[in-house]
Amino acid sequence: MQKFTYYTPTQVVFGKETELEAGKLIKKYGGTKALIVYGGGSVVRSGLLNRVKDALSESGVAFAEWGGVKPNPRLSHAQAGAEYAISEKVDFVLAVGGGSTIDTAKGIAHGAANPGTDLWDIWTKKVPLEKSLPVGIILTISAAGSEMSDSAVLTNEEIGKKSRLGTVLNRPQFAIMNPELTYTLPKYQIACGIADIMMHTLERYFIPNQHNRMTDEIAEGLLRTVIDNGRIAVNDGADYDAMSEIMWCGSLSHNDLTGLGRVKDFSVHKFGHALSAKFDVAHGASLTTIWGDWANYVYENDPERFQHYGKAVWGIETEDVKAAAREAIERTVSYFKEIGMPTCLSELGVGILDEETLKKLSLDATMGGTIELSHIRKLNVQDVYQIFCMANH
Ligand code: NZQ
Ligand code: ZN
Repeated sequence: MQKFTYYTPTQVVFGKETELEAGKLIKKYGGTKALIVYGGGSVVRSGLLNRVKDALSESGVAFAEWGGVKPNPRLSHAQAGAEYAISEKVDFVLAVGGGSTIDTAKGIAHGAANPGTDLWDIWTKKVPLEKSLPVGIILTISAAGSEMSDSAVLTNEEIGKKSRLGTVLNRPQFAIMNPELTYTLPKYQIACGIADIMMHTLERYFIPNQHNRMTDEIAEGLLRTVIDNGRIAVNDGADYDAMSEIMWCGSLSHNDLTGLGRVKDFSVHKFGHALSAKFDVAHGASLTTIWGDWANYVYENDPERFQHYGKAVWGIETEDVKAAAREAIERTVSYFKEIGMPTCLSELGVGILDEETLKKLSLDATMGGTIELSHIRKLNVQDVYQIFCMANH
């Protein structure tokens, strides 16, 4: 194992009706007035927002509201939210929603604690982030894992760039997880979430020098759990047991547990962020569009690893190493198709792309060609372009 620090300070409160504890938890973490952040209206329609407001009032916690977060959340909306938070003198930010809402709430918390600072300067590390407001979460979709992660992802719509900020200040104070709150999700969003959870695990799994059995066993168990329960969930999004398993897998897949003692990869996420910034497509779908072609491009540098994955996760017993590796990739891609996820650009709904667009995407994914992606096989901007071309059908 390589050196590591495991620090996941978020208090998890899991189970039915736990959203009613929101006010109590905000007070526990020092909040007296919260900004409730939410998305495009699902929490209004389901009645959740009103229940949360009642819970806050009963605990004597004042609040203001900041709705309208869009998927692939915009920097400008978070910036405006921060200014509103300052004007309302809130001392706590409560996200009620999914990754987009949570990441906006994190951005608002950073902006509100640093008045006069441009959020993009924080995102690009031009201004070091030293303080933030405390953030709490009521999760409504199992996917991004932002409820326990040290990340927040915002899109700077002015320059068309989707970018991640990693900092310990992104770790929420608490995360309320009631699987019943996910029952209103459309099937497509459930599947996007399953894909993202798998990808957070796979992006930590296909890396060199994996001398770390415990981390492998956790990752493989998580993948088997989310794959089995994902099949149930896309057919019945109100199956409590399946939605519970997926919800917990989502948090564990991205709170560092599945990658302890090793480097991270996250190259498929870079392809995905370039696609989402350009076409505003759902995050999970952007990843399944690329993963199969990425895997086919890199696996020959470490077919044993893919064989190991195939055996542990899909039960593949094929002895020929390369054949087993290819079978593992095929099984994963078939699963994405089975749950209704795209596995190429036309299925993603962006059509067949021209050469210029593919080149631009490749530059976006590699910070203008300045970084290499992946560890198993280093990918420069030309390699990234080749993979985009492989997915271009
Ligand atoms: O906006 P509303 O009306 O709430 O609708 C949302 C949205 O349209 C809907 N939804 C959420 N919960 C619902 C619901 N609809 C009905 N019932 C419910 N219970 O689902 C749609 C998608 O919501 P979103 O928050 O965008 O989903 P997700 O959790 O997948 O978040 C995706 C974002 O998180 C980022 C992604 O890049 C993307 O921007 N990520 C954040 C990470 C992090 N901070 O650690 C890591 C991830 O890798 C990812 O990059
Ligand atoms: Zn992700």
